[in-house]
Amino acid sequence: MSRISIVDVLKSDSSPGEIQVMGWVRTKRDSKAFSFIELNDGSCLANFQVIADATLPGYGEFIAHLTTGASVAVTGKVVESRGKGQRWEMQASSVELLGKADEDFPLQKKGHSMEFLRSIAHLRPRSNLFGAVFRVRSRMAYSIHRFFQERGFVCVHTPIITALDCEGAGEMFRVVTMNGEEIKLGDEEFFGKPSYLTVSGQLEGETYACALSDIYTFGPTFRAENSHTSRHASEFWMIEPEMAFCDLIGDMDMAEAMVKYLVKDALENCAEDLEFFGKFVDKGLIERLEFVRDRPFERVSYAEAVEILIASRAKFEFPVEYGHNLQSEHERFLTETHFQCPITVYNYPADIKPFYMRKNDDGKTVAAMDVLVPGIGEIVGGSQREERLDILRENLVKHGLSEKEYEWYVDLRRFGTVPHAGFGLGFERLLMFVTGVHNIRDVIPFPRTPGSAEF
Ligand code: 4AD
Ligand code: MG
Repeated sequence: MSRISIVDVLKSDSSPGEIQVMGWVRTKRDSKAFSFIELNDGSCLANFQVIADATLPGYGEFIAHLTTGASVAVTGKVVESRGKGQRWEMQASSVELLGKADEDFPLQKKGHSMEFLRSIAHLRPRSNLFGAVFRVRSRMAYSIHRFFQERGFVCVHTPIITALDCEGAGEMFRVVTMNGEEIKLGDEEFFGKPSYLTVSGQLEGETYACALSDIYTFGPTFRAENSHTSRHASEFWMIEPEMAFCDLIGDMDMAEAMVKYLVKDALENCAEDLEFFGKFVDKGLIERLEFVRDRPFERVSYAEAVEILIASRAKFEFPVEYGHNLQSEHERFLTETHFQCPITVYNYPADIKPFYMRKNDDGKTVAAMDVLVPGIGEIVGGSQREERLDILRENLVKHGLSEKEYEWYVDLRRFGTVPHAGFGLGFERLLMFVTGVHNIRDVIPFPRTPGSAEF
């Protein structure tokens, strides 16, 4: 007999009859004549109740070992449940212990702190919360591909090792080879020159957009920022679409449509898990997600945003000043307090942005945009790219970058240049928004942050 997953059993309209399920014991209650076993196989939040009669063959041997965390295979008939809260339960005809769980299995009791659960990142997916987080993560990854594939975008796998610093912030991890203790640098370097883990697939993505029109990348990116916040990770995943024949407006339209699509998809397809987050993590979650699904985003230029912040007379740790980056407290004030909805801020001062962004006609700002959402702040960053050869060359010089190194990037402007635009959606930031989970370390399986790369 082959295994049926618990989610399939629980959602069946009629009894699937005699079947086998496998999973891990969450709890067990014994009475004289039988035991109730709550089984979970991670396919859904709900446990499946199994009733094991004391008359079952081998009962005396296996029952003592069915402690929390132990794994079992159970065969039996699915019958309508007499208890409340579940439709189906199983009357077991055979129970096979697959693996005992030692007494010190750490997820016995509820109410562990998130910090403690991070220290057992190999076991935390067996808890309700983390099971739910990683099911939603999987669904969102699938839906992201679906969103782009439905619109004819081509998926491009951009490299993880690169010699360029796309964002120009110098926050990169260097890749070196080891020979025992000796690190090879200079001429002996593996690639003959310094190489790094990518901070963004954008520049390589642009080359493919300038051939296939609409492309996207979805992969891991790395940043050696020494940020100790709940929203920064050293390794995170990013979705980066790049669209030829597209300007800033088209770029903002696509970013907003994508966030809405994913929120709607989560509400429809992860309802049980979201309901759980709404109960135990963030009471306002469902309402906020429905709001984002149904209402348009506000759009505001950087200059207007600065005016709003100054006029608000709100107290900020970092002063608001035209020409400076918006700090996370400013972003959150705009989206949470002032607009009380997601907003897209556009046209930032050129001086605080990377070399590749398209200069606006005012000569001072660039066609950049960030999408900000309540509770998190920036979730998307993007721009229209500078497609004019002469201005791109000027920008390279201004940013102290050598044209020789960027020759291939400049070539895209020499051979059939086109207006094009794109953005990066931080996958973990999106997951924090959709689940209400407050710390980025809790939406990625094995978080890497300054000082921590366990597992
Ligand atoms: O705004 P960023 O730096 O933009 C880029 O990298 C562009 N090259 C993207 C593009 O236009 N193709 O990063 C994009 C997004 C941010 O909005 C944020 O959601 C996320 O990536 N992000 C991080 N997420 C987690 N930890 C970090 N340290 C992050 N840094 C950026
Ligand atoms: Mg950004």
